[in-house]
Amino acid sequence: MGYRMVLEPETTSRIAIYPGSFDPVTKGHLDLIARGAQIFDQLIVAVAQNSEKDPLFDAKERVEMLEAVTFEYKNVEVDLFEGLLVNYARSQNARVILRGIRAVSDYEYELQMAMMNRKIEEQLETVFMIPAMAYSYLSSRLVKELARLGGSVKDFVPPIVEERLRAKLGAKS
Ligand code: PNS
Repeated sequence: MGYRMVLEPETTSRIAIYPGSFDPVTKGHLDLIARGAQIFDQLIVAVAQNSEKDPLFDAKERVEMLEAVTFEYKNVEVDLFEGLLVNYARSQNARVILRGIRAVSDYEYELQMAMMNRKIEEQLETVFMIPAMAYSYLSSRLVKELARLGGSVKDFVPPIVEERLRAKLGAKS
């Protein structure tokens, strides 16, 4: 026989951080949250406070929308973080960073970020998940552009986000 694998009993819960700008949260993000919540014991959706110089929604608004749309998940919480993601992950006892990859074009940036994070904190693993095909072309940036130009964003964001976009930009429903 070959080697015998010794399985350590699970002593700690698996906490994953799902970081991002979430400006605003889309149905693609939500799809990933639903998948992550099934795999990890606890999923912390972490809103980067200073990721973009000029966000449409301030950090508090982004958190509010995320809290509203993740309410049904008992093992999902929403938080804000500032500074290095690896430091935040350490402060939460998280060993995993969850990121979504939509298309090959995402890969290069994600690889760079994952490698840089690994260099800073070797113990932290980045786990990539793929959203449903229907959301493979979706991004917060395009949703904002669509809303700004008067297009309907109904298919791409949850109703609360649609309302907030309409209030801010006058998007059609
Ligand atoms: O949704 P986004 O904009 O693709 O998310 C990018 C984010 C916020 C995950 C990334 O910019 C980040 O981790 N920012 C925090 C600062 C940091 O740790 N940067 C990585 C150093 S390599």
